[in-house]
Amino acid sequence: MVGSTASPIVVLDSGLGGLTVVRALRRAMPFEDILYFGDTARVPYGSKSAATVTGFVRQIINYLLPHEPKHVVIACNTATAHSLTTVRADFPFLSISGVIDPGANAAIEAAGSRLRPTIGIIGTEGTIRSRAYEKAIHKQRPLARLICQAAPLLVPIIEEGRWEDLRPLLAENLDVLVLGCTHYPVYEGLIARMAGPQVAVIDSADKCAEDVRRRLRAAQLERGERAESAYLRCFVTDNSPRFGALASRFLGLQIEPPTLVCSDELHEQVVAAANAGELRTAV
Ligand code: DGL
Repeated sequence: MVGSTASPIVVLDSGLGGLTVVRALRRAMPFEDILYFGDTARVPYGSKSAATVTGFVRQIINYLLPHEPKHVVIACNTATAHSLTTVRADFPFLSISGVIDPGANAAIEAAGSRLRPTIGIIGTEGTIRSRAYEKAIHKQRPLARLICQAAPLLVPIIEEGRWEDLRPLLAENLDVLVLGCTHYPVYEGLIARMAGPQVAVIDSADKCAEDVRRRLRAAQLERGERAESAYLRCFVTDNSPRFGALASRFLGLQIEPPTLVCSDELHEQVVAAANAGELRTAV
């Protein structure tokens, strides 16, 4: 495994959504340095093929490899569903986790002792099509009744008041509703009000952070208290002036201007690594 106690944790997403995981990580492990990669030029991932998304994730990990991360979090449900198994095989020397298992575990925990809980799952088209949540939940609760709905346009739905689109799902007497996209927790309060007090709304960010801490502890890589403050450095593939402002507002701290990475550069690096035999798979 690469990385030492002092190494950073890498967190990646198609855009801003993974910052919900960064926020949870910083709460759970305030002394850890974090490198955040938002693939803002290629967002959304939700409507793209598994092969394309896997290629993007491979490129991003490869790009950040020189920082010798002690852990990589795929803070995107779509990317976790499509690529986690593949990139773990591509980078066997790296510790890599995703958001779907922590989200599924949180849903099961919230369902309590019910043998046949009704669990709603909303996520991108790619996440829902992959059936990754269904598989993860049914492994532990085979009788659970799962109602899955792709909600790629959730943001406009909420912003334009088109809540009716979610009405059929919410009419299903849900016990639990999983926010299967890391962008959705930004609207968690609103969604919880729409769902009603009887529905446990699950945002996997905290569970994902707990899962990362457990992995770091097991590998004895957790960083202890230290005098200097931990850093958060962001990388983006499109330098929208909004990224820094939105990220700072969302995290409640002033972040350094993000480093702009051209997607062609990402591609070239992965080709070079493949040619040098450092990557197992074709690009
Ligand atoms: N935040 C991502 C997820 O959790 C997806 C958003 C997108 O790029 O479509 O699936």
